[in-house]
Amino acid sequence: MLPFHVPDLGEEEITEVVDVLRSGWLTTGPKARDFEREFAAMVGARHAVAVNSCTAALHLSLEAAGIREGDEVLVPTMTFAATAEVVAYLKAKPVLIDCDEHTLNLNCNLIEQAITNKTKAIIPVHFAGQPCDMDPILSIANAYHLGVIEDAAHALPARYHGKMVGSIAKSSCFSFYATKNITTGEGGMITTDDPEYAARVRMMSLHGLSRDAWNRYSTEGSWYYEILSPGFKYNLTDIAAALGLAQLKKCDRFWKTRERFAALYSEGFSDIPEIRCPRAAADIQHAWHLYVIQLELDRLRITRNEFIQRLQHAGIGCSVHFIPLHLHPYYRDTFGYRPDDFPMASRVFQRVLSLPLYSRMTDEDVTRVVEIVRSLVKENRR
Ligand SMILES: Cc1ncc(COP(=O)(O)O)c(C=O)c1O
Repeated sequence: MLPFHVPDLGEEEITEVVDVLRSGWLTTGPKARDFEREFAAMVGARHAVAVNSCTAALHLSLEAAGIREGDEVLVPTMTFAATAEVVAYLKAKPVLIDCDEHTLNLNCNLIEQAITNKTKAIIPVHFAGQPCDMDPILSIANAYHLGVIEDAAHALPARYHGKMVGSIAKSSCFSFYATKNITTGEGGMITTDDPEYAARVRMMSLHGLSRDAWNRYSTEGSWYYEILSPGFKYNLTDIAAALGLAQLKKCDRFWKTRERFAALYSEGFSDIPEIRCPRAAADIQHAWHLYVIQLELDRLRITRNEFIQRLQHAGIGCSVHFIPLHLHPYYRDTFGYRPDDFPMASRVFQRVLSLPLYSRMTDEDVTRVVEIVRSLVKENRR
């Protein structure tokens, strides 16, 4: 069986974590600060705040952007639960936007018509690691005074017109979940150039306290703190940060391997009209978190679900990214969204399939996946 994902962990991660365990300091402290510094340097941001998930990062970013009850926030429908649920945490309304047929990123042509006088922010999601077209998004946001908070859960290391994702918008939120491009088990990071925004996010990530534990209990710290706001418990432990420090050093190597495997897949499917391969737009660096193919269903005698079953039967783990938000009961029932409201995402959802893509795979694994997919297509051609 080739699993859909296996994290790439080595002796370096083990040594870093054991160092923390021996140090006697387990929660947010020097390792988290080092991880923040190195992460900020890598993406070219002035500030980075480590938290315990990308969901937390998104929630804190919206809070710091001043989103409150009754506001509207634009969110692509083609995303994971986290991107929109954080809007609901703040009692604001997630207003969904359909996707582009090719990149599966939000369709920038549909943004302006979704804006009302309640719209306060937009959360572009860099689907699969391909940056959204940020120039039009930023210029619309500028014209309508909207905050731009990037969901960069898939987008490390990604680049748009020469700039790293993490240094483009007001704030960017990364994920270090177990299957992400680098992992800390669970974890996330917020990057921003704005010192006040960073300070707000940091304070709210730890109960709204004026001082974190390191600043209270370390030798040069003071026991005194004040509660400045009712915050959250979203801080990253030093154990997780130690993993992150080791993973960050390998991020570029992991990316090069995934990029090469993505190219091997695309080459392997290039003469198969039943398979539409993902393609990177010009002047961007695709982080290649996911390799999402689209099945040309009118050329096949089987559905996407049957295709997945057969792949699993042949020992290939795969997944679907994503079930669009508007098709889920909560969004359907709460906001009255219908499949026809987002025709592209509704259509594309029937066709998408994510193949395994990670640095622990070998060239032989990729070749095997290609061969199995090719033979499945051959057996089930119309
Ligand atoms: C697009 C997107 N945003 C946000 C998240 C949430 O990340 P986390 O699990 O770190 O909270 C995910 C996780 O899979 C994701 O795919």
